[in-house]
Amino acid sequence: MQFTRPRGTRDFLPEEMAKRRYVEDVIRKVFESFGYGEIQTPTFEKLELITTKSGEDIRNHLYHFEDKSGRKLALRPELSAPTMRLYVNELRIRPKPRKIYYFENCFRYERPQAGRYREFWQAGVELIGSDKPESDAEIIYLAAQTLQELGIKEYEINIGHIGVFRKFLEKSGIKEEGQNTLMGIIDKADKEALQDALNQTGISKENKETLLKLINLTGTKKVLKEAEELLKDFGTEELKKFAETLDLLETFGLKDYTINFGIARGLDYYTSTVFEIAIPTLGAQKQVCGGGRYELIQAFGGGQTPSCGFAFGFDRIMLALEIQGQKLPTKEKTKVLVIPAPKELLKDAIKIANKIRQHTSCEIDLMGRKLDKAMNYANNENIPYVVIVGEEELKDGKVVIKNMKTGEQQKTKIGEIKNAVG
Ligand code: HAM
Repeated sequence: MQFTRPRGTRDFLPEEMAKRRYVEDVIRKVFESFGYGEIQTPTFEKLELITTKSGEDIRNHLYHFEDKSGRKLALRPELSAPTMRLYVNELRIRPKPRKIYYFENCFRYERPQAGRYREFWQAGVELIGSDKPESDAEIIYLAAQTLQELGIKEYEINIGHIGVFRKFLEKSGIKEEGQNTLMGIIDKADKEALQDALNQTGISKENKETLLKLINLTGTKKVLKEAEELLKDFGTEELKKFAETLDLLETFGLKDYTINFGIARGLDYYTSTVFEIAIPTLGAQKQVCGGGRYELIQAFGGGQTPSCGFAFGFDRIMLALEIQGQKLPTKEKTKVLVIPAPKELLKDAIKIANKIRQHTSCEIDLMGRKLDKAMNYANNENIPYVVIVGEEELKDGKVVIKNMKTGEQQKTKIGEIKNAVG
């Protein structure tokens, strides 16, 4: 019986893995250059950790199960909640801020399509313990800087502020749960559903109109003025903090962004600045990064600990690089193939291969092939050098080295193979 992969998952061949590892390395280096340190958490967590403050969308797409002892568990759909749990368990007493990054697989039972998978990888950072606008600014700048370093040519950064909404909704008499429902609908940009949901909240006609106007506010810094005008009777404290964040962001060096008050994010834990980055060439699944400021630690039994962060959808970044035709290094080829000829010299060949491997990559013919067949293999696999272990040469402590590109052959002392293959 032949088995296929579970729907929404992928296999990665060595060539693809080499490219993924290369891009992964670039991302890691940028994260580390800002002082972030890597963590690893379990692939599955307690179900309740994942469902607390995660949002309806995430809850609807969970892979969850009971283990043999009846514990309710879930495969992680994202890494902010696991990171916050780890912080409460392990890092609470360390100085702040804690700067953490991760590069891990996540699982969401979504309808698979190009750029949307049931198993996908997130590369993200969490900056824990600072409520300062410079922290918000730094993470947005870091996300943009990562895309720069990767050579992504076209991307759009949209920055919004959920705190402005939450304050407004609170003052309109809508409690946190109602706010979360509305945010989820705004995130999906479903205008009809939003009208229905607003009608159910009993919000006044006037406030409803203000809210709808706010959601549609998008553009340069001048929309802050319009927002201020809209919110003048509700308090503009949040807007002031937002302006400060944007100001600092420009000091970091990021000026090319759009303010978009329609950004609500699909997760319940966000509290103020939020942002998303899209790469338009990706089409329907163009969002490659999402993040913002949030509060989760309190809900996990730690004290109030303001945090912010973001996560890249790594697979979408790989797709975007492919679409833009970016050349990425493929797998380093094996440098040398050692062939015993005749095959009775296998043991000598093994010892020679072990020596070569101290300096460079080396395979030995494992198929017991004749010399010409083994040479064909080296040719097909683009292995640039073949070391032929033959009886005559071995008597003099030598082998024959063939350069597969030029066809040149030379006898070389075993101790000097290193120089001959470069
Ligand atoms: P998120 O927006 O749900 O945020 O996911 C972050 C990124 O993961 C998305 O922008 C997208 O690129 C990628 N992604 C999500 N679902 C899929 C999928 N099914 N297939 C492929 N890629 C996908 C979070 O997860 C937050 N934890 C981000 C965060 C960190 N906020 C603060 N800190």
